[in-house]
Amino acid sequence: MFHKIMLLNGPNLNMLGIRQPEIYGRTTLADIESRFTEKAKALGFSAECVQSNSEGALIDAIQSCYGRIDGIVLNAGAYTHYSYAIRDAIASVSLPVMEVHLSDIHAREEFRHISVIEPVCKKQICGLGEDGYYIALEELIRDYVD
Ligand code: DQA
Repeated sequence: MFHKIMLLNGPNLNMLGIRQPEIYGRTTLADIESRFTEKAKALGFSAECVQSNSEGALIDAIQSCYGRIDGIVLNAGAYTHYSYAIRDAIASVSLPVMEVHLSDIHAREEFRHISVIEPVCKKQICGLGEDGYYIALEELIRDYVD
């Protein structure tokens, strides 16, 4: 037990607050990262927040969790729908990963319905806006880390 969780966000999530606010809301990624960190702290955990638009950097971040992080809350953005490389990285570190999406990916364009990472994640949470990140954090700590 390391008492540490990674919050990992993929492509375009650095544009939160600007990007399609009618879908993604007006909260910025900095807001989410600081609320997530506060909530983790209240639960006795520290948080490491990483965002990248690059698939390789996301894979490096996932691999870097091995042996020092208890679990990952991940919004892989559009890579969710086709990155078997991210799926392999999750499988290879054998850590609990909560898959989060702000929007309801099942109620949007057809390409978003598919998540290739879902089979290697503990759970998918979507359609709850930013609350999805905090619910994922609580579930991760409660159910998979003791
Ligand atoms: C998203 C949904 C993805 O389809 C999209 O590419 C994103 C954000 C979400 O949080 O709703 O970048 O993961």
